Amino acid sequence: CINVCMTNCPTLIVTVGLPARGKTYISKKLTRYLNWIGVPTKEFNVGQYRRECVKIYKSFEFFHPDNEEGLKIRRQCALTALKDVNQYLTVEGGQVAVFDATNTTRERRWTITRFAEQNSFKVFFVESVCEDPDVIAENIVQVKLGSPDYIDCNTEEVIEDFMKRIKCYENSYQPLDDVLDKDLSYIKIMDVGRRYLVNRVLDHIQSRIVYYLMNIHITPRSIYLCRHGESDLNVKGCIGGDSGLSGRGKEFAKCLGKFIEEQNIKNLKVWTSQMKRTIQTAEAVALPYEQWKALNEIDAGVCEEMMYEEIQVHFPVEFSLRDQDKYRYRYPKGESYEDLVQRLEPVIMELERQENVLVICHQAVMRCLLAYFLDKSAEELPYLKCPLHTVLKLTPVAYGCKVESVWLNVEAVNTHRDRPENVDISRMPEEALFTVPAHQ
Ligand code: G3H
Repeated sequence: CINVCMTNCPTLIVTVGLPARGKTYISKKLTRYLNWIGVPTKEFNVGQYRRECVKIYKSFEFFHPDNEEGLKIRRQCALTALKDVNQYLTVEGGQVAVFDATNTTRERRWTITRFAEQNSFKVFFVESVCEDPDVIAENIVQVKLGSPDYIDCNTEEVIEDFMKRIKCYENSYQPLDDVLDKDLSYIKIMDVGRRYLVNRVLDHIQSRIVYYLMNIHITPRSIYLCRHGESDLNVKGCIGGDSGLSGRGKEFAKCLGKFIEEQNIKNLKVWTSQMKRTIQTAEAVALPYEQWKALNEIDAGVCEEMMYEEIQVHFPVEFSLRDQDKYRYRYPKGESYEDLVQRLEPVIMELERQENVLVICHQAVMRCLLAYFLDKSAEELPYLKCPLHTVLKLTPVAYGCKVESVWLNVEAVNTHRDRPENVDISRMPEEALFTVPAHQ
């Protein structure tokens, strides 16, 4: 019976569908999103296990339904992957495992469901169905050309072999069925998001997964991220506050306007925070802009408008606690980076829905957004380098994001403070201040 009550138990997400339907894309993207929102998630890709087991891929014949040896190896790889899933979810503290296998038959899906039941995991299937030959061909070109299976092959060879590989699965493929699979929890994504069918969403995490998958798209676009121009408080070496732009900050705003105009970007949306410095920056870009409160800079609470040197004088213990765990540290009466990620989740969701967007924001906010796109851990996130007067252009490619960094040639103060070597509460002030950047 699959109706066992399982609250707070880990989730096993299983991607389903024929090859080249974007299963790996979905698995990777979902894993990145869940980790970013703070749900420990790991991807288990059976293809990767197969590549580790059979070092050299010869041809589609490995996947032929009559290839006993191939079948045996693939079954063994799937079992090893499931064992690792079990270890991750029961021993290592993982909350979600994303199991990326072809899983085309009902029988195999029920095997996984029973395995999950035995181990008290909830299972959620994500099926991608697509018959549009152009979309399938595009997927092969985008993703499979770079696959380790096809090193030293030309485009035609890859497409030909991969189409034959798809054929190997087509006869046995049984899509999720309205009646036969009515007890399973799943989302069926049809024609890369043109239509969806959602069945038996059982809990909060499944509902968030569904919401996320219904908002993402694969239309080519770029996201431009930058901070406001240098502010008066930046010049003084103070954090937080709501000051206006310095002379150089205004100069950057003008250059940003020119840069954006030259890029000639189709239907560009411009987003700012509700703080003076981002609004003044956007005013120099000849486009309408939308203000988001969620994009406001991290709230430094009792440390607002202080220099790092002042924080060390007035709150030395707080200062060292922050250096010990910058991601989780919350300023008294203020926020942590962890809080900021939660505040920015709706911004990420809307960025997923949009096409070209320029986000004019702040140092801590930009670090959080960048960590999402570049899959950076909670430890790396608060130390990502986001200098003033520099635009980062992010363009989705295959399973990741291409980053181009453009410095707009206007000098600005450095506001990046690295983690000092000594983070102990008993450290000397000079040790705490060793990495503070120079300022007025
Ligand atoms: O407090 C505002 C700063 O932009 C964030 O810098 O988190 O590296 O101290 P920080």
